[in-house]
Amino acid sequence: MNIQEIFEKIDNEIELNKAEMMFLLDLKNPEEIEQLFAKAYDVKLKNVGQKAYFRGIVEFSNYCVKDCFYCGIRKSNKNTERFQIPEEDVIKSAVWSYNAGYGSSVLQSGERSDSEFVDSVERMLKEIKKQTDNKLGITISLGEQTLETYKRWFEAGAHRYLLRIETTNKELFNKIHPVDELHNFETRINCLKLLKKAGYQVGTGVMIGLPFQTTEDLVNDILFFKENDIDMIGMGPYIFHEETPMAQYRKDWELDKEALLTKALKMIAVTRIYLKDVNIAATTALQALRHTGREAGLQAGANIIMPNSTDTQYRENYQLYENKPCTDENASMCRGCLQRRIEGIGETIGFNEWGDSPHFHNRQKSS
Ligand code: 5AD
Ligand code: FES
Repeated sequence: MNIQEIFEKIDNEIELNKAEMMFLLDLKNPEEIEQLFAKAYDVKLKNVGQKAYFRGIVEFSNYCVKDCFYCGIRKSNKNTERFQIPEEDVIKSAVWSYNAGYGSSVLQSGERSDSEFVDSVERMLKEIKKQTDNKLGITISLGEQTLETYKRWFEAGAHRYLLRIETTNKELFNKIHPVDELHNFETRINCLKLLKKAGYQVGTGVMIGLPFQTTEDLVNDILFFKENDIDMIGMGPYIFHEETPMAQYRKDWELDKEALLTKALKMIAVTRIYLKDVNIAATTALQALRHTGREAGLQAGANIIMPNSTDTQYRENYQLYENKPCTDENASMCRGCLQRRIEGIGETIGFNEWGDSPHFHNRQKSS
């Protein structure tokens, strides 16, 4: 197999097979890796254009009923101080995103499904829609819920939902989660189906560079995105957190930052090449590895950036992983700093636009 033959297939829009995707993910030569990113960038230009879209993200609570072995805000981490931003402040931050021209926002928190929480989210969604004249797009990322809850939140104004599958290798999934009713691979897959049924544009994703994860696992993840007709992808590097059970694998599995970043960028590139018209986020975790990690994500095929719109006083305790960037910056600093850096790499920003996944609209047309 050689890289030029694979590139030719990409140019001629011939679908790659599994072995070819694995070959690309395993590239070692820095020049070839750069060529891969450039190829993915071409595919991005052809299919979704050169615009980066902003989603102001508000991480409004770290109370969580889950106990994922990798996550810094897992229920059993007693060293994390728990916080819940008052509804009116969450609303304020979302409206701030709208006024900053972001076009779209994301609300994320630790997972809860009690009725107090479900009601509170519903109220916030309605109020944000009201205060922005129905113009701000809202994505939510609030974990596994019932179809009824998903429908209520959809009706209240959310139209996109992010729920990562984390890994599509069931055995690996069961290694990185407790095996119990709350952490169940099939439930997670079923939730993705429910979200589609409720009408959302559906986003999922995986962590890249998990202990025990193979290149074949990553290719299977990409095939899973395709088979399930996923509209948006949010995936990022797995970063160790000392206060979690998975820290035990650190000495055998931790990659240096640049190596992990390259792995994540290659995954973004191959996903763009294979899926073409989906939205792909350059996630914040990329920036934990290199200051300009998110721009590198855009240059490897991503087209979405999620600037942090959470009020600074609350940021410190939303540490899913170590070295989370920008916890000291306020939202307007994030905006200015990102805008400069994105324009610096020659992209334009889709201000005041929802920036929906073209895939979603293509999927609507063909169904
Ligand atoms: N490193 C990277 N990503 C993480 N997440 C949770 N913990 C980590 C970590 N240590 C991701 C999961 C989850 C999302 C909200 O954050 O993929 O779905
Ligand atoms: Fe599951 Fe945080 S506890 S991702």
